[in-house]
Order: sequence, then structure tokens, then C-alpha cells
Amino acid sequence: MDARRITGQTKIMLLLADPVSHVVGTEAITAFMRAAGHDFVCVPVHVGPRDLAGAIQALRGYRNCVGSGVTIPHKIPVLPLLDELTDRARAIGSVNCIRRNPDGRLIGDNVDGAGFVRGALEAGVELAGLRVLLLGAGGAGRSLAFALAEAGAAELVICNRDPAKAAGLADAVGATYPSVPVRTGAADATGFGMIINATSVGMAGKDDSRLLDFAKLSADMIVADIVMKPERTGLLQAAEAKGCRVLFGRQMMDGQLALMRDFLGL
Ligand SMILES: NC(=O)c1ccc[n+]([C@@H]2O[C@H](COP(=O)([O-])OP(=O)(O)OC[C@H]3O[C@@H](n4cnc5c(N)ncnc54)[C@H](OP(=O)(O)O)[C@@H]3O)[C@@H](O)[C@H]2O)c1
Repeated sequence: MDARRITGQTKIMLLLADPVSHVVGTEAITAFMRAAGHDFVCVPVHVGPRDLAGAIQALRGYRNCVGSGVTIPHKIPVLPLLDELTDRARAIGSVNCIRRNPDGRLIGDNVDGAGFVRGALEAGVELAGLRVLLLGAGGAGRSLAFALAEAGAAELVICNRDPAKAAGLADAVGATYPSVPVRTGAADATGFGMIINATSVGMAGKDDSRLLDFAKLSADMIVADIVMKPERTGLLQAAEAKGCRVLFGRQMMDGQLALMRDFLGL
């Protein structure tokens, strides 16, 4: 299919963001859907917080739109604007993917965390039974915490700059998955099988050396960073130098693509 052709037959997905200039996911989503044979394009749209409700209402009437992605800062504010949420999105408390049904009803899901798990599995990393240190309890961190518990992590320890957010998340995940030990803890890698950076620290090449003491990483650990730009954050460079298995932000994005396709009904 000619990637440049966009016609009245083309299925359109929006991706609402503010700012929008850092958005790279639209290319990956478009390439994946086109490779699967769909006449499809995903378009980044710059929408500020004041205009979000109007954009969501407009989406209801856009009949050639299959839905929309939502990213920073809309993942939580969009919740009350939708007609329905999946159980997963309701538990996580944020949405990153909206399906537009043919009658205009909008259904929200969150595939961030499930995408991480799928991306890890596709890279041959089995999460069941791992002791995991999760850095970050923002939108993506929340989604990851639920998905890691769902995937059968042996223990989940959550560390966040704002400790109240880490505690609230640990309580919420523990209540949903009572068989998984979940608690808050310090940013200390000692004894963990997997360390995940789900904060935005390290984005755009910013110094991430204060995230945790890199000297405590060891070759038996799997280290993941969900930041996509740069591909190799300081954390991942330090982990590779120690001989750790590493997972990149792009692998989490790739893991989300098939989940988005299924959810959008393509
Ligand atoms: N690879 C993928 O597919 C994918 C998907 C989604 C997101 N992401 C990336 O994941 C990152 C987080 O996204 P998000 O949606 O979770 O953002 P968010 O909701 O704004 O959360 C940001 C997180 O980073 C922490 N943080 C920010 N600045 C910090 C600092 N200076 N020191 C310590 N912690 C800091 C925040 O801690 P506080 O709670 O204390 O503020 C919070 O835990 C972004 O880089 C985003 O691009 C990647």
C-alpha cells in the first residue's frame, strides 16, 4: 500500500497531545496497521487541556475515525468525557486508547502496561516469578504496575518522587491482586530480578543518574526503560555496561500496537 495515499476510504486514528512535537508513536502505529493491510493513518493533533472536551465531542461525529490515542496531559482528564471504560482502564485510572463505535460511542482502554508485558514476552523475557522494582507512579507507571501484577510478578516494589502516589498505587494494585505482594520502597536495585524506569527522567537525554545507584546493578538483572527518546538512556547504558539484559521503550510501544489493533476492531 502506498504510504502517502490518504483518501475518503482511509480509516483515521487521532492522537491527542499537548505538546505534540515530541510525539513519535503515530508513525509506528501507521506503519504497523498498513503492514497488516489496513488503509489507515494515525495523525497527531495538538489539543490543549481547555479544548479536550470539544475534541472528544467532535470525535463522536467523525465517522471515518476509528478512534484516538491520548497522551500527556490528557490520559486522566479524558476519563469522565468517555461513554464507557474497560475494566482495565477503570482500575488503572487512565486511558491511552479510545475506540469510536459506529454509533459514535467512545470506549476507553489503557494498553500501556499490557504493551510492556507483551513487548517483554516478544523479546523472550518472562515476567512471571520476577521480583520487580518499578520507578514511577505516573500515568505509565500506574498502567505498568497493574500489568506486572496481572503477569504474575513474584513481588512488586514501587518507588516514586511523590511517595503518596506510590503508596496509593501499591494499595490499589494490592486490592486488585491480593496474591501479589506489593509495597513501596527505596530506589535500590539490590536483590531485584527486574528494574523498570517508568518515570520521564532520562527523556531527551536529561541526566538520569539520580534515579538510582547504578553501581548496584548486576549482570543477573533485567533493566527496562520506557523512555523512547533517546533509545539508550543513561540507565540502559549503565545496565549494558554491567552485562544486564535490557528492554527499550520502543519494545513497549511495539507491544501496544497489536493490542490497539484488536481494541479498535481493525
Ligand atoms: N514506551 C512507551 O510505549 C511509553 C508509553 C507511555 C509513556 N512513555 C514514557 O514514559 C514516561 C512517563 O510517562 P507518564 O505518562 O507516566 O508521565 P507522567 O504521568 O507525567 O508521570 C511522570 C513520572 O515521572 C516522575 N518524575 C518526573 N520528573 C521527575 C524527577 N525530576 N525526578 C523524579 N521523578 C520524576 C513523576 O514523579 P511524581 O509523581 O513525583 O511527579 C512520575 O512518576 C515518559 O517519558 C513517556 O514518554 C513511554
